[in-house]
Amino acid sequence: MRASVKNKLLTGKSMGIVWSLFVKPLIAIQDSEKAHRRAVKALAIADSFLPTRGLLKLANRRAELPSERFGLSFPNPLGIAAGMDKDAQALRGWANLGFGFVEIGGVTVEPQEGNPKPRMFRVNKLQALVNRMGFNNIGSIAVAEKLAKAKSKGKWPDVPVAANIGKSKDTTNEDAAKDYSKTVERLWPYVDLFIINVSSPNTPGLHELQQDVALTAVLKACFVVNGEMAKQTGEDEKPILVKISPDLENAEITALVDIVIAAGCAGIVATNSTTTRPTSSDAKVKSQLEQSGGLSGRPLANRSTEVIRIIAEHTGGDFPIIGVGGISGVEDAWEKITNGACLLQLYSALIFQGPSVVKQIVKGLRRKLSEHGLSSLDQAVGLALSQ
Ligand SMILES: Cc1cc2nc3c(=O)[nH]c(=O)nc-3n(C[C@H](O)[C@H](O)[C@H](O)COP(=O)(O)O)c2cc1C
Repeated sequence: MRASVKNKLLTGKSMGIVWSLFVKPLIAIQDSEKAHRRAVKALAIADSFLPTRGLLKLANRRAELPSERFGLSFPNPLGIAAGMDKDAQALRGWANLGFGFVEIGGVTVEPQEGNPKPRMFRVNKLQALVNRMGFNNIGSIAVAEKLAKAKSKGKWPDVPVAANIGKSKDTTNEDAAKDYSKTVERLWPYVDLFIINVSSPNTPGLHELQQDVALTAVLKACFVVNGEMAKQTGEDEKPILVKISPDLENAEITALVDIVIAAGCAGIVATNSTTTRPTSSDAKVKSQLEQSGGLSGRPLANRSTEVIRIIAEHTGGDFPIIGVGGISGVEDAWEKITNGACLLQLYSALIFQGPSVVKQIVKGLRRKLSEHGLSSLDQAVGLALSQ
């Protein structure tokens, strides 16, 4: 087959068609969590063999839209959100799917089973997911070993890697500072930045850590470890960010932002999934939405963007925000950027649309920049705020 024909057959567009015709129907008949597990495993396997890795890269050739943040270079601003690859199974695979950065985790200090299954549900009609996973993961020691192996075997992605840090279910909020900071310490030698997750709706009492004294204590402990590890290794300290819930009252959001800035954090990730539900007259959708847990995907888009805007307005646009929640196309992505996000992440859209959504969004953002006569993404950040 001639190279140009082969290239055409492997473009993002044809991958999207393949996804819609073959992969999506297969996923639809499988239990959500099983389908998810198989997809991550398939990506890890495809990435580990030279020929399949070559195909993966060719089919999803990364769209470039570079930016510098937190002292790191991002080839494009769209990352894979936390929860997709909790155990860092397919680390380099995400970069080869075209993502500009990877967030692994949530990782907890000890391994955890998470909540009883089933615990992940698709709401196809709304392109939404409900999950109550409860931080199932192999724990900080095993994740650190995986990261060490990927580094030593030259399997490290060529994009920044963040670790999402969660609290173990059995750790009380009084001991949370020790719990979070131990995981930070174990993963410190490997990842580029840390996201402290105090906003998962599926660990009882976790949201309370978004309050003043508790959050300050957690962050303080993480910064102590950050300083110690930097000293030990002779490297710079690493950026620490906090991920927040969309379910906080607006006044609680600005209060939290003040705490996070005072603690010395590098930015904020807005937002996690929501415990609120949209209304629906469709009986099937209604019953799917009755599952307890966090709702992600399209119905989250507006509130997540609103939270980004509140933070950006409160900080005069000076505090970096990673925008996540309901991004399913370039319009959502652009909304989040112009309301103050400087980087983006998605999870649900990958499930419902397949990998072609990544390139489609990054290319769409490039198009938007040129339509607005802008030469870099930074120039678009917060554009809607000053209007
Ligand atoms: C099954 C599942 C597991 C998740 N696990 C985590 C997690 O461990 N830590 C976290 O901060 N967010 C977690 N999230 C939230 C996502 O990172 C993201 O914030 C949320 O899904 C909104 O993005 P989306 O609308 O693009 O899916 C999870 C989401 C889903 C659907």
